[in-house]
Amino acid sequence: MADRYLHVTGTAPGRFLTRRLGLPQPARLRRWSLETQSLDGPLLHLTAGESTVTEELATVLAATGLTVARGTGQASRPAAVVLDATAVATAAGLGDVHAALHPVIRSAAPGGRVVVLGVRPSADDHHQAAAQQALEGFVRSLGKEIGRGITVQLLRIAPGAVASAESTLRFLLSPRSAYISGQVVELTGAAPDPVTDWAAPLAGRTALVTGAARGIGASVASVLARDGAHVICLDIPQFQDELTRTADRLGGSALPLDITADDAAEQIAAAAPGGLDVLVHNAGITRDRRLANMPADRWAQVVEVNLDSVLRTTDALLKAGTVNRGGRIVATASIAGIAGNNGQTNYAASKAGIIGLVRSLAPRAAADHGVTVNAVAPGFIETRMTAAVPFFIREAGRRMNSLSQGGLPVDVAETTAWFAQPASTAVNGQIVRVCGQSLLGA
Ligand SMILES: NC(=O)c1ccc[n+]([C@@H]2O[C@H](COP(=O)([O-])OP(=O)(O)OC[C@H]3O[C@@H](n4cnc5c(N)ncnc54)[C@H](O)[C@@H]3O)[C@@H](O)[C@H]2O)c1
Repeated sequence: MADRYLHVTGTAPGRFLTRRLGLPQPARLRRWSLETQSLDGPLLHLTAGESTVTEELATVLAATGLTVARGTGQASRPAAVVLDATAVATAAGLGDVHAALHPVIRSAAPGGRVVVLGVRPSADDHHQAAAQQALEGFVRSLGKEIGRGITVQLLRIAPGAVASAESTLRFLLSPRSAYISGQVVELTGAAPDPVTDWAAPLAGRTALVTGAARGIGASVASVLARDGAHVICLDIPQFQDELTRTADRLGGSALPLDITADDAAEQIAAAAPGGLDVLVHNAGITRDRRLANMPADRWAQVVEVNLDSVLRTTDALLKAGTVNRGGRIVATASIAGIAGNNGQTNYAASKAGIIGLVRSLAPRAAADHGVTVNAVAPGFIETRMTAAVPFFIREAGRRMNSLSQGGLPVDVAETTAWFAQPASTAVNGQIVRVCGQSLLGA
């Protein structure tokens, strides 16, 4: 079901009418394509207070390929604004955040990016903790009010580890993150694995994507293949034709397999003799009913596919050493797992379970196996799953976010590809919502 409202507001008469009626004005998002590989304008590098990482940050920002200007008043229409607020440690210091951004925020280019850089709120210094936590409220509010397709994020870096943030800054300051806003990403200090080619960071690597026959999974497979990976596309045997078509198109291979099969991990290991560098748990189902009307089998099917099979295959593949060192595991949560949803006790439980799995396993997987574990939490994404939702709920899902539109499978895929990068070693244990800053669970 195409988003007709987005189409109408993309025309001059439609824009005029909807503005007069006070209706939402979704901006047309500028996503990555061969023609649109970077943001359309300069990057403004601002600092609040006395930062100790200014020069290191300048080096990383220069690597984005954008033209960098430093200081307020130095770029007339910035497509990206990066505010280094790592030094803000007191309530008074928050005045520097206002002083830096207030004069420039109106001039940010449509479809632009604002990234505030912070550090983890301290457990020992409650003044620093207050000031750094304040940045979260600030960023989430700015995301809601800024409009014009501009996104706003808070990126917390580990002390002295600016270089670990390169893959994340490249992602957040690019068209690849068009549907992500109001997020807080916290990096560890782990050094990035070397990247020889940022245009094909997964060259020579093998990825496996579950649920790859269609929807988000097919898009994830194709973006990972674009980034150079050999992709093994897994889906249930009933979808073998679609699966083979997707795999052939990407030069990958097809693995028809029900992920809930007892020997799923063994079959995956056999299909990847050189091991896996990227494992994407995307397969998922819904069997909606209110709890009072939900039979045990509908409950069990959803928990089995969405959570239990993810736990089982992850454990088995890590234990067998099938996930190579430097590997990346990406699981799929949902904003329903954060906010809850009417009729989805089973689904929301399974997706919240994914969040628990990621947070708990991530530090151990890094320490024991050199593997990161993260999750995407999609909001309303235009797929067959959401096309089946009744009209009014579908429209609400599309509009109730800061960008006033649904996301596309490629938005989830680009986020997965950022997690999957060798340079994203410092991105671990993160749940990143790809939801246009949905009001649900905000
Ligand atoms: N579409 C959205 O708005 C949205 C929002 C939040 C989360 N998600 C999650 O994103 C993921 C993909 O969603 P989608 O919209 O592309 O759904 P989809 O139904 O279009 O695709 C899911 C795929 O998973 C496969 N699959 C299901 N059970 C399987 C099993 N037992 N073994 C192997 N493959 C299996 C299906 O055959 C299908 O190809 C799911 O985990 C879903 O819960 C989607």
